[in-house]
Amino acid sequence: MSAPIGVFDSGVGGLTVLRTLAKKLPKESFIYLGDTARLPYGTKSPATIRAYSEQVMNYLVKLGVKAIVIACNSASSQVFETEWRAIPVYNVIEPGARAAVVATKNKRVGVLGTRATIESGVYTRAVRSIDSVVSIFSQACPLFVPLAEEGWSEDPITKVVAERYLQPILQHDIDTLILGCTHYPLLKATIQNVCGKAVVLVESGEVLARALLKDIQSGRITKSAADHGSIRVLKTDLSAHAEALSRAILADFQISAIEKVDLV
Ligand code: DGL
Repeated sequence: MSAPIGVFDSGVGGLTVLRTLAKKLPKESFIYLGDTARLPYGTKSPATIRAYSEQVMNYLVKLGVKAIVIACNSASSQVFETEWRAIPVYNVIEPGARAAVVATKNKRVGVLGTRATIESGVYTRAVRSIDSVVSIFSQACPLFVPLAEEGWSEDPITKVVAERYLQPILQHDIDTLILGCTHYPLLKATIQNVCGKAVVLVESGEVLARALLKDIQSGRITKSAADHGSIRVLKTDLSAHAEALSRAILADFQISAIEKVDLV
């Protein structure tokens, strides 16, 4: 039996990261924790987001995970450790920034995120540390998370909201846009439609999967001995709607269980 990789977010958003990881690392097992009882994180203060993240990471450690993926940008903006209780920790900021620097041709990059992520300035710092010439234009989109949790991926209301948020940022002639909240890939079709095809939308999943794979190969993370992995989904609040949405997002994968848990 190999230990699972723990992945967490405030809600269903991190499942967009999990599905990329599960696809790229099919032999690995995953435990996904959605802190749905306390969603959203992105409207809360840095201290609260940090405290919630610590609680979730401690809980995952107790479950025996061999690595922790913070599949939440808001949490990633407050957790800078690369290890937690001697377990490797991965956040989504650096991989997203790296993917954007590779994608941009005109060196003008937009970032969408929760208020917490945008106000923390983590993306600006991460992109600039990779390429100091890139100009960054940021926009907080607080209404996107409830729209994604509602499952309104391509609803006309989502389009109106997207137009309102994107209009100012598109005036800066960006050619690349970081979806700096793991909920936003669920609204990707609408966001792409509003941006037009010329703007490349960037997510962190692929680069993150490569980083994990590299660390599995180097032995920083123990390689799974299984032929194929499993996915267990835990939530701090479980409703029929949240369960159905999780199953829809993970439609291409087998879920061994969806359970409600208490962190304390
Ligand atoms: N999915 C999370 C993120 O990437 C946050 C959503 C929320 O506000 O809880 O920031």
